[in-house]
Amino acid sequence: MFITFEGGDGSGKSTQIAKLKDALQVKGFDVVLTREPGGTPISEKIRQVILDKDNQGMTPVTEALLYAAARAQLVRQVIIPALEEGRIVICDRFLDSSIAYQGFGRQLGDAVDNINQYAIAGCMPDLTIFLKLDPASGRERIGSREKDRIEMESDAFHQRVAEGYRWLEENYPERILAVDASQSIEEIAAKIEAAVMERIHAL
Ligand SMILES: Nc1ncnc2c1ncn2[C@@H]1O[C@H](COP(=O)(O)OP(=O)(O)OP(=O)(O)O)[C@@H](O)[C@H]1O
Ligand SMILES: [Mg+2]
Repeated sequence: MFITFEGGDGSGKSTQIAKLKDALQVKGFDVVLTREPGGTPISEKIRQVILDKDNQGMTPVTEALLYAAARAQLVRQVIIPALEEGRIVICDRFLDSSIAYQGFGRQLGDAVDNINQYAIAGCMPDLTIFLKLDPASGRERIGSREKDRIEMESDAFHQRVAEGYRWLEENYPERILAVDASQSIEEIAAKIEAAVMERIHAL
C-alpha cells in the first residue's frame, strides 16, 4: 500500500506521518517512510538545488522538471521496490504537490501532470491524506523557522497552491481524503488511522 501526505507548509504532515508510522508498526506492519523532494541520495541533491534561496533565477519549468526528476529516482529506487516486497510506503508529499505548487502556484497548468505521468510510470498512491489548513495558520505554526525558496513565495502564490489542493480534492475524491487540520494532533491522528485501516482491509 502506498500512502501520501499532502497539504501546505505547517499543516502537520510530518507530525501525522510519525504518528501513523508508529500506529502501523504497533499493528505489525512493515512501514517505509520517505519524503519529497528527496528520499534517495540523488533526489536529496536535487532537493538542495530546488530549495536553495540563491536560486532565485530558476524558471518555473526548470523547477517542475527538477521535482519530476527527483520523483522519478525515488519511485524507481525506493517506492516500487518496497511495494513489491509488500511493505507500506508513506511519502511526505508526492505528485499532488507538483500539481498544486507548480501547476497552480506557478501557473504551469496541465504540463505538470504530463511530465509527472512519465516520471511516476503508473506508481500512483492508493490513498492520499490531505491536511487541509489555511495558509496563514500553517505559517503561524511554522513561526520563525528559516524559510526555503518555495516557502518565501508571496501570499498570492500560496493562495493559488491552496486553490490547487481544492481542485485536486474535488477531482480525485476516491483517492484523496481531506482532513480538517485545524483539529488537535490526536483527533487528526485517530481519523487518519481509521481511514488507513479501512483502506488496508479493503485492499
Ligand atoms: N494539529 C495541530 N495543532 C497545532 N499544532 C500542530 C498540529 N499539527 C502540527 N502542529 C505543529 O505545527 C508545526 C508544523 O507541523 P509539521 O512540521 O508536522 O508540519 P508539516 O506539514 O510537516 O510542515 P512542512 O511543510 O514545513 O514540512 C509543528 O511545530 C507542529 O508541532
Ligand atoms: Mg514536514
